[in-house]
Amino acid sequence: MATAMFKRALPRTSALSRYARARAHASEAEALQVKQKARDSTALKTFSIYRWTPENLTKPELQDYQIDLKDCGPMVLDALIKIKNEVDPTLTFRRSCREGICGSCAMNIDGCNGLACLTKIESGSSASTITPLPHMFVIKDLVVDMTNFYNQYKSIEPWLKRKPAGDERERGFAE
Ligand code: FES
Repeated sequence: MATAMFKRALPRTSALSRYARARAHASEAEALQVKQKARDSTALKTFSIYRWTPENLTKPELQDYQIDLKDCGPMVLDALIKIKNEVDPTLTFRRSCREGICGSCAMNIDGCNGLACLTKIESGSSASTITPLPHMFVIKDLVVDMTNFYNQYKSIEPWLKRKPAGDERERGFAE
Protein backbone atom coordinates (compact mmCIF):
# COMPACT_ATOMS: atom_id res chain seq x y z
CA MET A 1 0.00 0.00 0.00
CA ALA A 2 2.88 2.31 0.87
CA THR A 3 4.43 1.59 -2.55
CA ALA A 4 1.15 2.47 -4.27
CA MET A 5 1.00 5.73 -2.33
CA PHE A 6 4.61 6.45 -3.25
CA LYS A 7 3.88 5.78 -6.94
CA ARG A 8 0.88 8.07 -6.81
CA ALA A 9 2.86 10.78 -5.01
CA LEU A 10 5.88 10.59 -7.32
CA PRO A 11 4.34 12.13 -10.45
CA ARG A 12 2.82 14.91 -8.36
CA THR A 13 6.21 15.70 -6.76
CA SER A 14 8.00 15.83 -10.05
CA ALA A 15 5.28 18.02 -11.51
CA LEU A 16 5.73 20.32 -8.53
CA SER A 17 9.48 20.46 -8.98
CA ARG A 18 9.02 21.08 -12.71
CA TYR A 19 6.65 23.92 -11.82
CA ALA A 20 9.10 25.30 -9.27
CA ARG A 21 11.93 25.18 -11.82
CA ALA A 22 9.76 26.86 -14.46
CA ARG A 23 8.65 29.45 -11.95
CA ALA A 24 12.23 30.19 -10.89
CA HIS A 25 13.24 30.55 -14.51
CA ALA A 26 10.26 32.82 -15.17
CA SER A 27 11.14 34.93 -12.13
CA GLU A 28 14.68 35.38 -13.36
CA ALA A 29 13.41 36.40 -16.79
CA GLU A 30 10.88 38.76 -15.20
CA ALA A 31 13.55 40.27 -12.96
CA LEU A 32 15.78 40.86 -15.99
CA GLN A 33 12.88 42.50 -17.83
CA VAL A 34 12.12 44.75 -14.87
CA LYS A 35 15.80 45.71 -14.61
CA GLN A 36 15.95 46.50 -18.31
CA LYS A 37 12.74 48.55 -18.10
CA ALA A 38 14.10 50.50 -15.13
CA ARG A 39 17.28 51.19 -17.09
CA ASP A 40 15.30 52.35 -20.15
CA SER A 41 12.87 54.48 -18.21
CA THR A 42 15.24 56.88 -16.48
CA ALA A 43 13.76 60.34 -16.67
CA LEU A 44 16.73 62.66 -16.83
CA LYS A 45 16.10 66.30 -16.13
CA THR A 46 18.59 69.13 -16.33
CA PHE A 47 18.68 71.86 -13.71
CA SER A 48 20.59 75.02 -14.60
CA ILE A 49 21.52 76.54 -11.28
CA TYR A 50 23.02 79.95 -10.55
CA ARG A 51 26.50 79.62 -9.09
CA TRP A 52 28.59 82.35 -7.57
CA THR A 53 30.85 82.54 -4.58
CA PRO A 54 32.50 85.66 -3.13
CA GLU A 55 35.91 83.93 -3.06
CA ASN A 56 35.72 83.53 -6.80
CA LEU A 57 36.21 86.84 -8.59
CA THR A 58 34.65 85.63 -11.84
CA LYS A 59 31.11 86.42 -12.96
CA PRO A 60 28.20 84.27 -11.84
CA GLU A 61 27.27 81.42 -14.15
CA LEU A 62 24.58 78.80 -14.62
CA GLN A 63 25.83 75.30 -13.93
CA ASP A 64 23.96 72.30 -15.33
CA TYR A 65 23.18 69.23 -13.24
CA GLN A 66 21.35 66.16 -14.51
CA ILE A 67 19.07 64.29 -12.17
CA ASP A 68 17.08 61.10 -12.69
CA LEU A 69 13.55 62.08 -11.64
CA LYS A 70 12.69 58.41 -11.02
CA ASP A 71 15.14 58.50 -8.17
CA CYS A 72 14.20 61.87 -6.70
CA GLY A 73 11.37 63.44 -4.72
CA PRO A 74 8.75 65.48 -6.57
CA MET A 75 9.70 68.98 -5.45
CA VAL A 76 12.44 71.33 -6.64
CA LEU A 77 13.92 71.30 -3.13
CA ASP A 78 14.22 67.50 -3.37
CA ALA A 79 16.28 67.91 -6.54
CA LEU A 80 18.51 70.53 -4.92
CA ILE A 81 19.09 68.32 -1.88
CA LYS A 82 19.87 65.36 -4.15
CA ILE A 83 22.36 67.44 -6.14
CA LYS A 84 24.02 68.65 -2.93
CA ASN A 85 24.14 65.18 -1.39
CA GLU A 86 25.17 63.17 -4.43
CA VAL A 87 26.68 65.42 -7.07
CA ASP A 88 28.08 68.69 -5.77
CA PRO A 89 28.36 69.38 -2.02
CA THR A 90 29.45 72.96 -2.72
CA LEU A 91 25.99 73.97 -3.97
CA THR A 92 24.59 76.39 -1.39
CA PHE A 93 20.94 77.17 -0.63
CA ARG A 94 18.74 77.74 2.40
CA ARG A 95 15.99 75.48 3.63
CA SER A 96 14.45 74.60 6.92
CA CYS A 97 10.89 73.40 7.41
CA ARG A 98 10.33 71.71 4.00
CA GLU A 99 6.63 72.48 4.26
CA GLY A 100 6.16 76.04 3.05
CA ILE A 101 6.17 77.75 6.43
CA CYS A 102 9.56 79.30 7.09
CA GLY A 103 10.16 80.79 3.63
CA SER A 104 13.88 80.09 3.72
CA CYS A 105 13.85 78.15 0.44
CA ALA A 106 12.48 81.11 -1.53
CA MET A 107 14.15 81.38 -4.93
CA ASN A 108 13.37 82.04 -8.56
CA ILE A 109 12.33 78.89 -10.37
CA ASP A 110 11.87 79.09 -14.13
CA GLY A 111 11.21 82.82 -13.90
CA CYS A 112 8.76 82.74 -10.99
CA ASN A 113 9.58 83.51 -7.39
CA GLY A 114 8.45 80.66 -5.16
CA LEU A 115 9.27 78.21 -2.46
CA ALA A 116 11.38 75.29 -3.68
CA CYS A 117 9.76 72.95 -1.16
CA LEU A 118 6.28 73.66 -2.58
CA THR A 119 7.19 73.84 -6.27
CA LYS A 120 6.80 70.62 -8.24
CA ILE A 121 9.50 69.68 -10.70
CA GLU A 122 8.24 70.22 -14.26
CA SER A 123 8.29 66.79 -15.87
CA GLY A 124 8.98 68.07 -19.39
CA SER A 125 12.36 67.49 -20.98
CA SER A 126 13.37 71.16 -21.00
CA ALA A 127 15.86 72.35 -18.40
CA SER A 128 14.71 74.16 -15.27
CA THR A 129 16.55 77.33 -14.40
CA ILE A 130 16.99 78.16 -10.73
CA THR A 131 18.36 81.53 -9.63
CA PRO A 132 18.35 83.52 -6.38
CA LEU A 133 15.50 85.89 -5.59
CA PRO A 134 15.85 88.89 -7.89
CA HIS A 135 16.77 92.37 -6.64
CA MET A 136 18.58 91.06 -3.60
CA PHE A 137 22.29 90.88 -2.88
CA VAL A 138 23.67 87.38 -3.30
CA ILE A 139 25.82 85.97 -0.52
CA LYS A 140 26.55 82.70 -2.30
CA ASP A 141 24.79 80.63 -4.99
CA LEU A 142 21.07 80.72 -4.09
CA VAL A 143 21.52 82.38 -0.70
CA VAL A 144 20.57 86.07 -0.61
CA ASP A 145 21.20 88.74 2.01
CA MET A 146 17.97 89.15 4.01
CA THR A 147 19.19 92.05 6.21
CA ASN A 148 17.19 94.71 4.38
CA PHE A 149 14.09 92.51 4.36
CA TYR A 150 14.24 91.96 8.12
CA ASN A 151 14.85 95.67 8.78
CA GLN A 152 11.79 96.59 6.73
CA TYR A 153 9.78 93.82 8.34
CA LYS A 154 10.69 95.07 11.81
CA SER A 155 9.82 98.65 10.86
CA ILE A 156 6.17 97.77 10.15
CA GLU A 157 5.85 96.01 13.54
CA PRO A 158 3.90 93.04 12.23
CA TRP A 159 2.59 91.74 15.52
CA LEU A 160 -0.66 92.05 17.48
CA LYS A 161 -0.80 94.96 19.84
CA ARG A 162 -3.04 95.46 22.89
CA LYS A 163 -5.18 98.53 23.04
CA PRO A 164 -4.60 100.68 26.13
CA ALA A 165 -6.10 99.10 29.27
CA GLY A 166 -9.55 100.24 30.42
CA ASP A 167 -11.76 98.80 27.71
CA GLU A 168 -13.19 95.68 29.40
CA ARG A 169 -14.56 94.23 26.15
CA GLU A 170 -11.17 94.41 24.51
CA ARG A 171 -9.53 92.83 27.53
CA GLY A 172 -11.99 89.95 27.36
CA PHE A 173 -10.74 88.99 23.89
CA ALA A 174 -7.08 89.63 24.54
CA GLU A 175 -4.83 86.68 23.89
S1 FES B 1 11.88 75.05 3.60
FE1 FES B 1 10.55 76.29 4.75
S2 FES B 1 9.32 77.19 3.25
FE2 FES B 1 10.55 75.84 2.12
